Amino acid sequence: MSNRLNTSPNDLRAFWMPFTANRQFKQNPRMLVGARDMHFTASDGRQILDGTAGLWCVNAGHCRPKITEAIAQQAGELDYAPAFQMGHPKAFELANRLVDIAPDGMNHVLFTNSGSESVETALKVALAYHRTKGNGSRTRLIGRERGYHGVNFGGISVGGIVSNRKMFGTLLTGVDHMPHTHLPAQNAFTRGQPEHGGDIASELERIVTLHDASTIAAVIVEPVAGSTGVLIPPKGYLKKLREICTKHGILLIFDEVITGFGRLGSPFAAQHYDVMPDMITSAKGLTNGVIPMGAVFVTSEIHDAFMQGPEHMIEFFHGYTYSGNPIASAAALATLDTYKEEGLLTRAADIAPYWEEQLHSLKDCPHVIDIRNTGLIGAIELDPIAGEPTKRAFSAFLKAYDDGLLIRTTGDIIALSPPLIITRDQIDELFEKLRNVLEGGA
Ligand SMILES: Cc1ncc(COP(=O)(O)O)c(C=O)c1O
Repeated sequence: MSNRLNTSPNDLRAFWMPFTANRQFKQNPRMLVGARDMHFTASDGRQILDGTAGLWCVNAGHCRPKITEAIAQQAGELDYAPAFQMGHPKAFELANRLVDIAPDGMNHVLFTNSGSESVETALKVALAYHRTKGNGSRTRLIGRERGYHGVNFGGISVGGIVSNRKMFGTLLTGVDHMPHTHLPAQNAFTRGQPEHGGDIASELERIVTLHDASTIAAVIVEPVAGSTGVLIPPKGYLKKLREICTKHGILLIFDEVITGFGRLGSPFAAQHYDVMPDMITSAKGLTNGVIPMGAVFVTSEIHDAFMQGPEHMIEFFHGYTYSGNPIASAAALATLDTYKEEGLLTRAADIAPYWEEQLHSLKDCPHVIDIRNTGLIGAIELDPIAGEPTKRAFSAFLKAYDDGLLIRTTGDIIALSPPLIITRDQIDELFEKLRNVLEGGA
């Protein structure tokens, strides 16, 4: 007898959804069928204000004509080109355009298909770089508690979110974690960078002393930790990490999968905080979320270390079938055009003060225990219901959706990251809806 599900096209059982409460969703599905600019259209016809840029990726807003046209044109012109030992012009053009907006010195780009793959790529570059330099003992990777670096094995090993790690065995060996920087007792309701916690960076010195610098390849951090519920770096913290890494010959990787492409008001967080890492991982906003693509930026120092040996030999044994895919490259080029024409890579800097003001006006809402913000990012932390962690925020998410607003929750924290085209009126609308949700007893 067949053990197939007896499915019809709109049967929901076959698709095992990612990072989703599948049983809850399938009882009462939230289906999106269209999108334009700041809004989704739900299957019941309602307009849903996008408070999260999809998943932190649709920075220019939805269905932007330049991007959709570029994809259609590319699909009809050159649909695919082999990524290994062959090239096509748009991937090279894109790499150059990316280097132009990246922090000074980030002169080379490796392409991937997602943030998770960008992280794996950067970790592998770090290990291989030290080996090419004759420092093969530098194999240890350092992440941070509450860090999120995607879902692949390298990323969850250096990541520090327990639910993402605990089911998956021993992960990579030789990984250590710095403490997170969340100090609610001292920093609650801070606007922008917290005053307290910069010194936590010196914990890296303790880890270096424990293992010896000669065993450590790289430190990876999100400049602003997003998926754990928005943790903004305390003043001085990132600079201090940079100093310690430089002192000990350790590579510093900024995971900018959410902060890249204008989220903080500069193209990258490295520029915003004026701290130069050795590598930057990115994805999401690179193509406005429309086509999967990621990019890893590296310095010439790293790139050039690999360019040795016989010229017919492959220098780095790594890559993906879809690295620099023509359609993704075309989407990314059109995305960069759109960002440039509309000033979106710096717009968050202009609108951030208004955003901050409106966000913090929710301070008096029930159960709010902290509010934090930077650029066009906001977080509202709620007091968990005793014995039922995450339930209060999840209820808020459901109620907001019913009221026509998409928010994102992680634990009992509401995270907001709207498209960078949001207007003041739409910011007002967003926080008015959220106030109703929170006052309605979510
Ligand atoms: C900092 C960071 N790194 C990596 C990832 C993983 O990206 P992806 O889901 O594209 O694999 C994310 C996703 O949210 C992220 O926020």
